[in-house]
Amino acid sequence: MSFVDGTELGQDGILALAQRALELRAGSKAHRSDGARVAGVFLNPSLRTKTSLEAACGAVGAQPLMIMPGKDAWALELEDKVMDGDKAEHIREAAAVLSEFADLLAVRAFAKLESAEEDRADPVVSAFDRYSSVPVINLESALWHPLQGLADTATWVNHLGPDLRGKRITLTWAPHPKALPAAVPNQVLLSAALQGMDVTLAHPEGFDLDPQIVERAAAMASSGGGSVRTSQNQREAMAGAEVVVAKSWSGFAGYGRRDEEAVQRAEHRDWTVTSDKLPKGGGFMHCLPVRRGVVVAPEVLDGPQSWVVEEAGNRLWTAIALLERMLETS
Ligand code: CP
Repeated sequence: MSFVDGTELGQDGILALAQRALELRAGSKAHRSDGARVAGVFLNPSLRTKTSLEAACGAVGAQPLMIMPGKDAWALELEDKVMDGDKAEHIREAAAVLSEFADLLAVRAFAKLESAEEDRADPVVSAFDRYSSVPVINLESALWHPLQGLADTATWVNHLGPDLRGKRITLTWAPHPKALPAAVPNQVLLSAALQGMDVTLAHPEGFDLDPQIVERAAAMASSGGGSVRTSQNQREAMAGAEVVVAKSWSGFAGYGRRDEEAVQRAEHRDWTVTSDKLPKGGGFMHCLPVRRGVVVAPEVLDGPQSWVVEEAGNRLWTAIALLERMLETS
C-alpha cells in the first residue's frame, strides 16, 4: 500500500496512526525495523518533511537514503521521449533502482502551476508509484500532502479528542506575495472531511480550490457525519471555529492567468489572520513555513492560541507511526 493522499488507511486507520503518534510523543518506544531502508527523493526544498523523515528512520532503525535530483543526483526525465535534452536519468530506471535499495520510496514534487491538467495528474508521485516495486510515501505532491494531514489530524485529536465528527474547522486563504500550490489546503480539506468534521472553506472570489477536490471532500465529510461549506467572508467563516487553519494558495481558476491573479492577490491583504478575527478559545494552525505579518500577524503566531509548533512537532511522531505501520507490512 502506498500513502499518496492519506485516505488509503480510511478514517479509523488514520485515527489509529494519529493516536499512536500521540503515544510516541508521550514516551512510548518506537517499534523497530532494524536494517530497513527508506529512500527520500526531494525535487523541492524542505525543513520539516526531510528532517522528520530522517529522524523517524532513526527512531525505527531504518537507514534514510536522501537525494535531491538535479542537485546531488541526476535530473529526472518524466516524459516518454528521446532523451536528448538536459535530463540524464528517466524516472522509470530511477524508481526501479531505488526500489532495489529501499523498502519504501518517499517523494516530494510540488505542482508547477502551469497546467491544471498536468497538476491534476500528479505526474511525479504517480510515476514513482507506477515504476516503483515498493510502496511510495507522498512527501507533498502537486495535489496532496498526506504526512501534513496526518500531523494535523494528530494535533486535532490532541486538542479536540479522538471523535472529530462535527468539530468545527475553518480553512482560510491568506495573502502571500507568490502564487502557491494547493496541496496543503487540498489535504486539510480531505483530512478533515475523512474525520467527519464540519469544514468551512473561506477564500476571496477567484481563489477556489479545484472543484473536483471540494466535491470529493464534501461527499466524504457527509458520509462521515460532517459537512463542507464555502464562504467569501473570512471573519464570519472563522467565528465559532474550534480550529482555524490558514494557508495561501493560488486559485484553480488562476491557471493561465497568474499575472491577473497576482493583482487580485494584492487586493486581499486584509485576509491576514489577526487576533481580532480569531475565535475565542479556537486553535490556530499553519503547516509552516509561514510569512509573519503577511499570512498571519505575529501576535497570533506567538500567542496562546497558536498550535503551529506542536503541529510541526507532530510531523516527527506521525512519521514514526507511519513508518512503523508501512515497514511492518512491506
Ligand atoms: N510543512 C512542510 O511540509 O514543511 P517543509 O516544506 O519544511 O517540509
